[in-house]
Amino acid sequence: MKDAAPETIFLKDYAEPHHWVREVHLTFRLAPTETRVLSRITFVPNAQNAGDLVLNGEDLKLITATVDGAIVPMDVSDTHLRIKSADLPTKPFTFEAEVEISPETNTALEGLYMSNGMYCTQCEAEGFRKITYYPDRPDVMATFTVRIESDQPVMLSNGNPTASGEGWAEWHDPWPKPSYLFALVAGDLVNHPDRFTTKSGRDVELNIYVRPGDEDKCAFGMEALKSSMKWDEDTYGREYDLDIFNIVAVDDFNMGAMENKGLNIFNSSCVLASKETSTDANFERIEGIIAHEYFHNWTGNRITCRDWFQLCLKEGLTVYRDQMFSGDMRSHPVKRIEEVLQLRARQFREDNGPLAHPVRPESFVEINNFYTATVYEKGAEIIGMLRRILGDEDYYKGCNLYFDRHDGQAVTIEDWLKAFEDATGRDLSHFQQWYSQAGTPRLKVSEAWEDGTLTLTFTQTTPPTPGQPDKKPQLIPIAVGLIGPNGDEVVPTTILTLSEETQSFTFDGLGARPVASILRDFSAPVILEREIDAATRAFLLANDTDPFQKWEMGRMLAKDTLIDMITRDATPATDYLDAIKAVLTDESLDPAFRALVLGLPSEDDIAQTLFDAGQTPHPQKIHAARQTLRQTLAIHLSDACPTLFRQLETPTFVPDADGSGKRSLRMAVLGLMTLNDGGEAARALYAKADNMTEQLGSLSALLAAGLGAEEIQAFEKQWKNDRLVMDKWYTMQVVHAAPDSTATTVETLTQHPDFTLRNPNRFRAVFGALTANHAGFHHASGAGYETLANHLIKLDKLNPQTTARMCGSFETWRRYDADRQALIRAQLERILATEDLSRDTTEMVNRILGD
Ligand code: PHE
Ligand code: ZN
Repeated sequence: MKDAAPETIFLKDYAEPHHWVREVHLTFRLAPTETRVLSRITFVPNAQNAGDLVLNGEDLKLITATVDGAIVPMDVSDTHLRIKSADLPTKPFTFEAEVEISPETNTALEGLYMSNGMYCTQCEAEGFRKITYYPDRPDVMATFTVRIESDQPVMLSNGNPTASGEGWAEWHDPWPKPSYLFALVAGDLVNHPDRFTTKSGRDVELNIYVRPGDEDKCAFGMEALKSSMKWDEDTYGREYDLDIFNIVAVDDFNMGAMENKGLNIFNSSCVLASKETSTDANFERIEGIIAHEYFHNWTGNRITCRDWFQLCLKEGLTVYRDQMFSGDMRSHPVKRIEEVLQLRARQFREDNGPLAHPVRPESFVEINNFYTATVYEKGAEIIGMLRRILGDEDYYKGCNLYFDRHDGQAVTIEDWLKAFEDATGRDLSHFQQWYSQAGTPRLKVSEAWEDGTLTLTFTQTTPPTPGQPDKKPQLIPIAVGLIGPNGDEVVPTTILTLSEETQSFTFDGLGARPVASILRDFSAPVILEREIDAATRAFLLANDTDPFQKWEMGRMLAKDTLIDMITRDATPATDYLDAIKAVLTDESLDPAFRALVLGLPSEDDIAQTLFDAGQTPHPQKIHAARQTLRQTLAIHLSDACPTLFRQLETPTFVPDADGSGKRSLRMAVLGLMTLNDGGEAARALYAKADNMTEQLGSLSALLAAGLGAEEIQAFEKQWKNDRLVMDKWYTMQVVHAAPDSTATTVETLTQHPDFTLRNPNRFRAVFGALTANHAGFHHASGAGYETLANHLIKLDKLNPQTTARMCGSFETWRRYDADRQALIRAQLERILATEDLSRDTTEMVNRILGD
């Protein structure tokens, strides 16, 4: 029976459960299509909110269920098992059930499923209800004891191993946890072992479990894990709390990775690394994700969320923590610029469209649709602002109080902020609005100079977002520094806190009129609208002491140049070309930073900028202008590039900040050279590359110049047995396809024998690349839209979660002309009209259509 209209859940309706759980005992008798799950659960009636026993359960075949050993009346639907309070004891009781489930046919990759013959689970957010009947909500925390029976050689669950024998293993997790952190793995796996001793002397066994053949790709991840454990001790005073920590790599996974207590499960693309198969960017990402999942042990697991509206409580904070870790491991300025690029490309884009929502949403239909850039990335920006406003010392004071006060609890954003208020005596009521008000504030600034005093006047407005027409001023920390006319810094970074709609700040006692550097280190997630001429930008690009602002000035020069080329048929500005050349050849600057300055804004970014300025973006024109600018840069820098290319060679591959920085600049330079030399340098590098960064870098340089037909074939031949590298092969071809042939390239690739809808990485390799190819996806024919919709409709039958996520590619549709809007609308309506469309996809498409 299908549900009627899917229900909307509201934060304001939160109520405690009628029953708490003390202990859970689970036995799994694993079999591909008929796994039996036996549960024994001790329930304790909640005196604060007495009522029926309400258990979630989906896709379960109920065999038996009893209360204290006796059959009682129960009401079993597609989604719940209910027992009336009149039929229940008023004191603690034991509920026992046996259910049957079918992991092999579970293509949604939620609950217990199989991937390449291995059993694994994914329970966040609401997957545990597909394993057994349970109050599947994060405020119900319990200890779990698990017995696994199967013929698989490796059997893992949360906590510590307690006993095992031929065909069985038992695990016990002493830390109470919500069901979304439950995990089980059973398969033919090999492990890469290591150890870590915590600062109080606990000896912890560490393992990374992978499929046979992948053993040689674990060493980097293991080092990242040990660094993360050390970092959390040194920085936050947080220690690990079990005798064993396991990581498992799985090929079929909807997301990046999952922080299950003591048993993190990773998408293999986010843990397996070797220089032959992984790029520098892969290494950096793997290090960050391993840290992220490990850090969840305290921010998420020991202290968890009361309800799913509080998702940012664990995600925003944990992203912030992994960002700081990566900065410490590599380079803070480079990391910050990369974060801002991401934030603008994903979160600002989301905030600007029909999917905009507060960092803490107030309602949802399907919680899986709220694992968003806003919750994660803007959530992390809020923590960064909190720290800027409080200062480091008070920030850590607040964190410590939060950890002490709430260890073992399921809490809310109010609890989080209260810990900071109580630890520091500050009032954070205005600050709290960042969690409830959606939209990106626009900040305008004007400057006045008189008698040695510089006055900066800021005005903020936030455009309306769905359901929130009227916005209030936010509390915005604005980091400002002043640079004197000779290029010296005359006032170091100072935090101005804007709380009103309009507010002025003065700097006095200045000798000569300085140039203000505003929003240093991107101190708040806002759009700064500042009228400033190209010469001042070039001045700051050359002289600012803040690396983020230095980069930002280069970026704005590039953007202005592109906009002028598109809207006024201008030729590329020489101001810009000269400024870039100066940075590129400045050997005092970090190569990674120079590579970032050389990078051009994406076509999607230009489209959004034009739209914000009241114009209709024309994808083909944007694409052409960007190509022309690249070509012009290639000529303007044609002397500098070959020299740099030689100088930046790294004799041995070490995936650290220094080596990866050099290679990123070197590959950027190669991209430009390839536009001039017929592909000579790129072909030579491709032929001798011994690492994936250079192999892929040279291949993509060739493809971007319309070359590389032979190399793309050779690449396939070389890597056809490596799933993760083949994902890159698919992506490359689509990302670099010419706009006219993008959709046909996609169609051809989906006919390839190795293309499958069952592996989310493969689907994203092709369709994520399609939507990243702006001019190809938005081709006037509508072929890009149609291809995506065709495959989303097919994928929804198998995997609603990934389908719904990919629908987000249409979120920008209102930016474009009427014809394109009509084409997109038709595809969205066609998706919506599909029979038995999942709740996930239905919610997403309805929100995108917004009518
Ligand atoms: N909680 C995971 C993380 O951020 C993400 C995730 C969500 C994974 C839902 C799977 C399912 O680390
Ligand atoms: Zn997370």
